[in-house]
Amino acid sequence: MIAIGCDHGGYAYKQMLMQHLEDRGIRYQDFGCFSPDSCDYPDYAIPVAKAVASGEFEKGILICGTGIGMSIAANKVHGIRAAVCGDSFSATATREHNDANILCMGARVISEAKALEITDIFLDTPFSEEERHKRRISKIE
Ligand code: RB5
Repeated sequence: MIAIGCDHGGYAYKQMLMQHLEDRGIRYQDFGCFSPDSCDYPDYAIPVAKAVASGEFEKGILICGTGIGMSIAANKVHGIRAAVCGDSFSATATREHNDANILCMGARVISEAKALEITDIFLDTPFSEEERHKRRISKIE
């Protein structure tokens, strides 16, 4: 189960990504925002981050203009490893190395096609389970 959220800057991309999740048969919950009206990204980043940190949701996806505000806010929640990704290499690496549990993307930074590509990589790439990566993650905790 995926927790997904956005601000006004990411609203259109979130609509597209939810359709993509539906097409792939992946269950999700939409944490808002629910219109393209201007709003504040922490109001959506924090609930999504808490939902993932609680274990109720496997992963999260957050979209704003840059992805940066969402990641800063989400990473305030203990247990969250939110990564801003704008390329497929970073998306693969952050799953394999960081076991990132929230993907943040910037709708004003990357194309819709790139956002779909990165989302699929994030959802489909497992953590490497290598000891050195586990050790590094445990040092964050
Ligand atoms: C909203 O204008 C913009 O600041 C927000 O979407 C995001 O990019 C913040 O990091």
